[in-house]
Amino acid sequence: MSNEDAGRARGFPEGFLWGVSTSAYQIEGGVDLDGRGISIWDTFAAAGGTRDGQTGAIAADHRNLMPADIALMAELGLPAYRFSVAWPRVQPDGKGSASEEGLDFYRALVDTCLDHGIEPVLTLYHWDLPQPLEDAGGWPVRDTAYRFADYTALVADALGDRVRRWTTINEPWCPAMLGYAWGIHAPGRTDPEAAVAAAHHLLLGHGLGVDVLRSRVAHGRTNGDSSGSEAPEIGITLNPYPVLPATASEADHDAARRIDGIANRLWYDSILRGHYPRDVLDDLLSVSDLTHIHDGDLAVISRPIDAMGVNYYRCYHVRHEPGASASPSAWPGSTDVAFIDPDSNTSNGWAVEPGGLYDAVIRLVTDYDAPPLYVHESGAAYRDEPDAAGVVNDTDRIAYHAAHLEASSDAITAGADLRGYFVWSLFDNFEWAEGYTQRFGIVHIDFATQRRTPKASAHWYAKVVAANGLPSTGP
Ligand code: FCB
Repeated sequence: MSNEDAGRARGFPEGFLWGVSTSAYQIEGGVDLDGRGISIWDTFAAAGGTRDGQTGAIAADHRNLMPADIALMAELGLPAYRFSVAWPRVQPDGKGSASEEGLDFYRALVDTCLDHGIEPVLTLYHWDLPQPLEDAGGWPVRDTAYRFADYTALVADALGDRVRRWTTINEPWCPAMLGYAWGIHAPGRTDPEAAVAAAHHLLLGHGLGVDVLRSRVAHGRTNGDSSGSEAPEIGITLNPYPVLPATASEADHDAARRIDGIANRLWYDSILRGHYPRDVLDDLLSVSDLTHIHDGDLAVISRPIDAMGVNYYRCYHVRHEPGASASPSAWPGSTDVAFIDPDSNTSNGWAVEPGGLYDAVIRLVTDYDAPPLYVHESGAAYRDEPDAAGVVNDTDRIAYHAAHLEASSDAITAGADLRGYFVWSLFDNFEWAEGYTQRFGIVHIDFATQRRTPKASAHWYAKVVAANGLPSTGP
């Protein structure tokens, strides 16, 4: 972005899809309703894996408050709602027939969206694996990918006539590496070999899921779609991290290559090119014999997709440092890498680096000829509390989203087919291992009363959406 461009008003292409994102375990609560089964996050939280033992048992109580929540989205004029389906609510044991009550909740959610003119954008897996499947080995076991395909069929059959936009799996790096290698996410295992197998089976599940969706989703009742096309839009959502070496030294470059390999290329190359990157496989051989990769798997993993979600939060800054890698870590096979955290004013320490969003999008387009892209998540956590008048004046969050929308606009100007932007998140919510300590929402939740208070950022975003663009911010 040139200095001249900073602060100027920016319009977005006609039909650009504006939305907000949430995920099931982070907001639903209602864990005892609908015959819902136990998920690995219930178990992990109960076992003390989260801050102060906090759990998603109540969360933002969206299971009960969903109609009012969707009405609130409509009041704010939000055109699209990206949510996830809780696998254990739909298929309590992770196999066998569906819970019709569970499906009814999502039918009601989708219909309520459509009745308000809000486009539902559905994610099938946002990390809440049914516990019985973990007990049978979890994602490191090949069968879990097939169980995911069966679950996908249940949801596709129930909602495929009214949901057009489908994401198989959200950020597979997280459940694989945070869940099975580092152990800071459910199920809390610290086994690098298992994590590498989990990554492959999450990808295989994605590919099998694409096939299922392709054969079962007719098309959705659409809203706000100016393209005129009713074809389903099936894809996956990844979390690209630009990885920057601290210096130009060969050792720092190699550290960046390794982290980039596991954070980005493992997923990009397999899904978009049909093979794993050779250097990444070589690195992984130090922890796995890779025999979990079967002939033909990559053909399934690389099934054509119609769209890809990009969840962007920040970059990684790395340098080579012998012995630096924490053990356990999220980076199997990548020892001797130190992470440098730039200064940050967010409550979880993540730096605000909007240029990384531009770089991530442009790389996917330039190097990978990516399908149409959506920013499915972007956001920041700040210490927001209502003032005496009940107002949450989160100007830092407004600045965050303005900067990331400018980066999105720059990417579009540079030729990227970027078709939408979804704020993470609609609500303050259960932020995984951090419990309720990190507030990402544009709507404040008082967790004692479940009172919803749109923050200043929600009112600002509503204006951006209505204008289909950013106002000028210059002097
Ligand atoms: C993403 C997750 C989302 C939320 C944000 C802050 O990685 O997809 O659930 O935790 O980070």
